Amino acid sequence: MTATRIDGKAFAAQLRDRVGKDAAEFETRAGRKAGLAVVLVGEDPASQVYVGSKGKATVAAGMASFEHKLPADASAEDLLALVDRLNSDPSVDGILVQLPLPGHLDEQSIISAISPDKDVDGFHVINAGRLSVGQSGFVPCTPLGCMMLLTDRLGDLSGLEAVVIGRSNIVGKPMAQLLLDANATVTIAHSRTKDLPGVVKRADIVVAAVGRPEMVKAEWLKPGATVIDVGINRLPPEPGTEKGRLVGDVAFDEASEIAGAITPVPGGVGPMTIAVLLRNTLVAAYRNEGLDVPEDL
Ligand code: GUN
Repeated sequence: MTATRIDGKAFAAQLRDRVGKDAAEFETRAGRKAGLAVVLVGEDPASQVYVGSKGKATVAAGMASFEHKLPADASAEDLLALVDRLNSDPSVDGILVQLPLPGHLDEQSIISAISPDKDVDGFHVINAGRLSVGQSGFVPCTPLGCMMLLTDRLGDLSGLEAVVIGRSNIVGKPMAQLLLDANATVTIAHSRTKDLPGVVKRADIVVAAVGRPEMVKAEWLKPGATVIDVGINRLPPEPGTEKGRLVGDVAFDEASEIAGAITPVPGGVGPMTIAVLLRNTLVAAYRNEGLDVPEDL
């Protein structure tokens, strides 16, 4: 048996299309573009690439992008002053402070300074709390994107066994919450879990978010399972090549023989994250203007 490939790239393109149409509608109704402010502290090369892609995607969707770059040695006061200005700027609907921050800055206290209604990353404790009690707020982009792929593939998730591997605040915990809200039976597995292969074997849905290359093996999977691979890991370069291959947390080729459906890396979950960020920003804009959020977002 060969699993269906879940095409996150195509799904993300459709979502971005809908966001683009709804962003144009927003501009007509509000008399301004929806706006996303992205803050980068320091010069981490990967973060620079991410921030650049987010800015481009924002503009491509017909929204305004505001990029703010602070030096690596910026003080907490400087950063908090910027966040404060963005909180009160009516042309800014969403604020994203790119993580990781340099070591001298406390990430949680910076995130806590962002207005929860502009926290399109969904990292603020208020939004984590809203998700936990079932109030509407902002849900972190990667798990929300995974959920969109899962419901597109499976429809109703009621009663399905879901195993989330990884318990981060950014992916594992919110993912488990979303699956629970969809009436799945949810297990969160992590580095201390005993008999991880045995736990994964029960799962109709596996979400792997641990950051360990090709850790999940074919023989761990229940035949027909739906596998969502959040991992993006670069392997060491092969002799004679400059860069190693990108792989997920799941051994894709062998897992494809057992799973019912699986996301590839790259081209699976990755492209969903920015598409959902644009979606969250536009939702923030509609809410900030007191307008009804379009149903297709
Ligand atoms: N760094 C890597 N991914 C993310 C993300 O989704 N949001 C933020 N703010 N920083 C990140």
